[in-house]
Amino acid sequence: MKRIHHMGGLAIVIFITFHLINHLAGVFGAESHLAVMEKLRVVYRNPFIETILFIAVAVQIFSGIRLSITKWKSANLFFEKLQIWSGLYIAVFFLIHLSAVLTGRYILQLDTNFYFGVAGLNTFPHNLFFIPYYALAILSFFAHVAAIHTKKMEKVVFGISVNTQSNLILLVGFIITVIIFYGLTNGFTGVEIPTEYGVLVGK
Ligand code: HEM
Ligand code: HEM
Repeated sequence: MKRIHHMGGLAIVIFITFHLINHLAGVFGAESHLAVMEKLRVVYRNPFIETILFIAVAVQIFSGIRLSITKWKSANLFFEKLQIWSGLYIAVFFLIHLSAVLTGRYILQLDTNFYFGVAGLNTFPHNLFFIPYYALAILSFFAHVAAIHTKKMEKVVFGISVNTQSNLILLVGFIITVIIFYGLTNGFTGVEIPTEYGVLVGK
């Protein structure tokens, strides 16, 4: 189960890294976000690669839940518990996020671009759901990485203990989350949502 989880993890980490870079591009405006997504789509929207990505997500949810059940009782340390809880949130997020993207694409016939992603985030009261929903997703990803780091890393670097290194990963995750939110909300002032995306927020 661990080996399957490792392999699926590798494929997903590559995608998520580029996905988050794409969202960071939002800091330079919607146009930059759209331009980066256009480029990245050539790769991840390739039917072969997208199929591998979706299979990897399914495998990760299944193997992650099995690992969580196995580890549930023996997880005592903070990062052991964080590994399980962050994983469980990622599993729930994956199910909602991918259902939303596929529904948007095939049922609503929308281009699931920047505006699709941020419609709820920039509309009250939908943002009451979308702010914690997206923030916890990015934070859970970094929390999962920090927990893996605690488990695998043995070395003190520049006098910094492994525990502090993992806490720094959490801090980096928090900073990246704030920067991404800054971009996805037009510097916290709100993004004007094109009318065709109004259906997402009841307009
Ligand atoms: C973003 C997707 C994910 C990635 C990249 C990822 C990656 C990893 C990696 C590399 C490990 C280390 C395994 C080891 O100790 O050798 C791990 C452990 C673990 N993951 Fe994930 N994972 C992801 C999603 C999930 C999900 C969805 C769940 C739960 C539903 C989950 C639950 C766990 C648990 C419980 C462990 C600890 C296993 C152990 O201590 O033996 N992960 N994950
Ligand atoms: C601010 C947070 C996020 C926003 C606004 C967002 C938005 C989006 C959008 C708009 C798409 C559709 C892409 C397209 O049609 O080309 C998408 C796809 C996807 N997202 Fe996210 N995302 C966020 C965070 C995440 C995180 C943290 C993960 C992983 C843990 C993730 C995993 C995925 C996956 C696996 C896909 C499917 C890619 C595909 O269409 O083949 N997303 N996301």
